[in-house]
Amino acid sequence: MSKSDTPEKGIASPSRRNLLKAGLAAGGLAATAGFARAAEPDPYNLPPNVADWSRYLGVGVDNAPYGMPSEHESEVVRRSVEWLTASRESSINFTPLHDLDGIITPNGLCFERHHGGVAEMNPTDYRLMINGLVDKPLIFTLEDLKRFPRENRLYFLECAANSGMEWRGAQLNGCQFTHGMVHCVMYTGVPLKYILEEAGLKTNAKWIMPEGGDAAGMNRSVPIEKALDDCMVAFKMNGEALRPEQGYPARLVVPGWEGNMWVKWLRRIEVGDQPWHAREETSKYTDLLASGKARRFTWVMDAKSVITNPSPQAPITHGKGQTVLTGLAWSGNGRVTRVDVTLDGGKNWHQARIDGPSLPKALHRFYFEFDWDGSDLLLQSRAYDDTGYVQPTKDELRAVRGENSIYHNNGIQTWHVMANGGVENVEIS
Ligand code: MTE
Ligand code: CO
Repeated sequence: MSKSDTPEKGIASPSRRNLLKAGLAAGGLAATAGFARAAEPDPYNLPPNVADWSRYLGVGVDNAPYGMPSEHESEVVRRSVEWLTASRESSINFTPLHDLDGIITPNGLCFERHHGGVAEMNPTDYRLMINGLVDKPLIFTLEDLKRFPRENRLYFLECAANSGMEWRGAQLNGCQFTHGMVHCVMYTGVPLKYILEEAGLKTNAKWIMPEGGDAAGMNRSVPIEKALDDCMVAFKMNGEALRPEQGYPARLVVPGWEGNMWVKWLRRIEVGDQPWHAREETSKYTDLLASGKARRFTWVMDAKSVITNPSPQAPITHGKGQTVLTGLAWSGNGRVTRVDVTLDGGKNWHQARIDGPSLPKALHRFYFEFDWDGSDLLLQSRAYDDTGYVQPTKDELRAVRGENSIYHNNGIQTWHVMANGGVENVEIS
């Protein structure tokens, strides 16, 4: 480095620090489309200079009693889509999948779906009532629930409407919007079986109806076999209390099944001998077929995958050469055993590398490293699960389900990488 392009050494003045801050703020403003552009490095901070952050003591321990991400990560946020937002209270936002890695979704980035806004429950007044076909109807406090044996389980939750806007063709530009109605956290809670056994199930108990304490009072019918199998009443996510958005202080966990059944702010479980056919399982969350008939009770979320990088919000910015492709795969039926990726729209498939824990009904992380020659690519991924199921193409799905569906779109996603590294959502057949 010549003397002329080496920044002047010496003690930086506070104004120098402010200048750096101002520069960052401007950079933040430029990145409005949901992807951060690489900022120009400040030569002042680069070797062989002593960087600004090495010249001062940092802030002390009590600066942030509850820690927050670096200010440089301010673009890593949930986002909503204006035309999908009828009202703020009955709406969705999306997990920024393109900004995450591994298989755990940080609590503050889990997508939200509410039918009546976030209920403001307090733990002291919280009650869970069990009634219907039980020997003794019971009301539990939160403390009561915490006296049952607890379990820790990592599960994905996917809204049945995830990718729903893509049913008739490529539409939204970013995996956050096409696939971001999924999250995966470690739940701590009590197996529902223990709570139902405490109340005592009558011999004709065949269904349960969990009901939310939010203004929507959302409820669904769940068959008793599932309730006694792996459902949980969870009060922690990733080790800390559920976030209000995720159903604080307690929600139902229905592993592998559509997110709508994971009732938040759980206030009551009625036990019955037949399904209730509530609003959310009749006029909503059913799939209208070409014949005009609707599929009833499509509970399981079938195997699905998506490439999160590169993707429209995460273009290739480094030019040709060594490139890391990564993405997520999951199956409501069990473990993901294999993920294939193609760079040329399905002419050649390569087996991707699954890295990290491979747990049933949880997200799986896959990678594929390749040398990009700078030409156009058509990226796709295809997941397999341990039942032998293979993720279908969108055309294969439409051949069976017609054009009317919204829910349960697990078709293969295509991203078009252009020569300039930009990426767009396309469909090929
Ligand atoms: N539970 C209640 N009480 N109210 C709701 O609006 N939304 C459901 C389900 N449970 C909902 C609810 C839907 S459609 C989904 S996809 C999931 O919660 C979303 O969970 P999340 O907000 O934790 O991502
Ligand atoms: Co949903």
